[in-house]
Amino acid sequence: MQDAAFVEEMAHFVRERIPERVVHARGAGAFGYFEVTHDITKYCKAQVFQHIGKKTPVAVRFSTTSGESGSSDLDRDPRGFAVKFYTEQGNWDLVGNNTPVFFLRDPILFPSFSHAQKRNPQTHVKDPNRLWDFLSLLPETLHEVTLLFSDRGIPDGYRHMDGYTNHAFKLVNAQGEAVYAKFHYTTGQGVKYLNKERARALAGKNPDYALRDLHDAINKGDFPYWTLNIQVMTLEQAKKLSYNPFDITKVWFHNDFPLIPVGKFTLNRNPVNYFAEVEQIAFSPHNMVPGIEPSPDKMLHARMLAYPDAQRYRLGVNFSQIPVNCPMQTKVTNYERDGFMAMGDNQGNAPNYFPNSFGGPEGNPKFTETMFHLSGDVARYDNSEEDNVLQARKFYLEVLKAEERQRLCENIAESLAGAQLFIQKRAVKNFTDVHPDYGARVLAELDKLGAATQVAVQQKQEIPILGHVTFH
Ligand code: HEM
Repeated sequence: MQDAAFVEEMAHFVRERIPERVVHARGAGAFGYFEVTHDITKYCKAQVFQHIGKKTPVAVRFSTTSGESGSSDLDRDPRGFAVKFYTEQGNWDLVGNNTPVFFLRDPILFPSFSHAQKRNPQTHVKDPNRLWDFLSLLPETLHEVTLLFSDRGIPDGYRHMDGYTNHAFKLVNAQGEAVYAKFHYTTGQGVKYLNKERARALAGKNPDYALRDLHDAINKGDFPYWTLNIQVMTLEQAKKLSYNPFDITKVWFHNDFPLIPVGKFTLNRNPVNYFAEVEQIAFSPHNMVPGIEPSPDKMLHARMLAYPDAQRYRLGVNFSQIPVNCPMQTKVTNYERDGFMAMGDNQGNAPNYFPNSFGGPEGNPKFTETMFHLSGDVARYDNSEEDNVLQARKFYLEVLKAEERQRLCENIAESLAGAQLFIQKRAVKNFTDVHPDYGARVLAELDKLGAATQVAVQQKQEIPILGHVTFH
């Protein structure tokens, strides 16, 4: 014990692990820049879009959703696609996925959704009963489930996928006029997916496939890029739309709201310190800059609360002072001081109270959000009866080719076969509501797998191994 170096090293070692992200724990990051290619100042006054050719540094983190930090890159799972723009007005984050829609439109369901996908708390195994029980009880998941079990469910690494914010945001121009907009990022590398056989083979040999692919491409100077586009909807159009424009289980059709190009972001630097720059990076949909504001989407509102809250837990109360999270192009002024791991000058002698006589940060009209009008009753309500099938049907019939539909149904059946019979039946009924062919094909595939028999066999085998687990 007299060896101080030994004590130091051991004490540090046993404290090396920090909590991983509660979702999106597995990821890869890279850095680069965003360049404006088209003028959108008529929609948005944010300085990041000020003029064509303007460049802004960016950080990107790609991820899977439900796996742990050490899990495989080859799982069927939505991929996260988060972009941080280090603008002169502070950090602006777009925290999207590789699918244009999400499973839910009511944020109170998010923790349950995550629990249903993750490990059974008693056995620590992944459990198709829990997943399909949840999904089949919530037909609002049908659109995203259909996307996820299609070929799109396993992208070929991170470079070959598009990204979507799902949510609408409000864009405000210099005259204070607002529109709603969704952001899309389109890959310059072409979209590619892996079929499940190849994904399985790779998962055995190279579970870090996506992380390695991104790292190696950047290392050899093959810098991946994405174009940033917006879809714009006026406030008037939003009022008249036949469905809720803020329901993220639905897309805005491109025919009605075409993509408008904005710029391009390129990734040209790998992290030099994965822990400091990727594990500790903190993205949040609440990081916005003047000209970009929240829409009335309540999923977005919930996320604005959840992310910084999660980061205070996983990184500490001063997580925004970690270099990768600092707004590198501007100086932070607020009334926050002290706390664990406070770094830098703690804002020196600047006032840490408001009101003050020394020009505190509050009260600058540049940072005031636009006013909007609200009226109506507020209560918790059940929205499960809203349309859940029209867009999934359109995707099934009009986007997927015949062989893709077949693979979709095979993929679903393979997963669903592990659930109890009554859950399988409920799920098949939902797919039939999307389209009778969809339900019939899933059922046929389940029959081929002898699903009911298989469930029975699985129960017999697993109960003794797992102790008191019952599937009834
Ligand atoms: C109510 C709905 C949601 C809640 C409560 C939620 C919550 C969270 C939380 C707590 C984290 C971990 C944050 C951290 O520790 O840094 C996270 C990560 C993430 N979420 Fe969500 N999420 C929701 C919906 C969504 C949606 C709709 C998308 C995509 C459109 C999304 C994309 C992501 C991504 C990409 C990350 C990883 C960010 C990173 O790379 O650090 N989430 N989410």
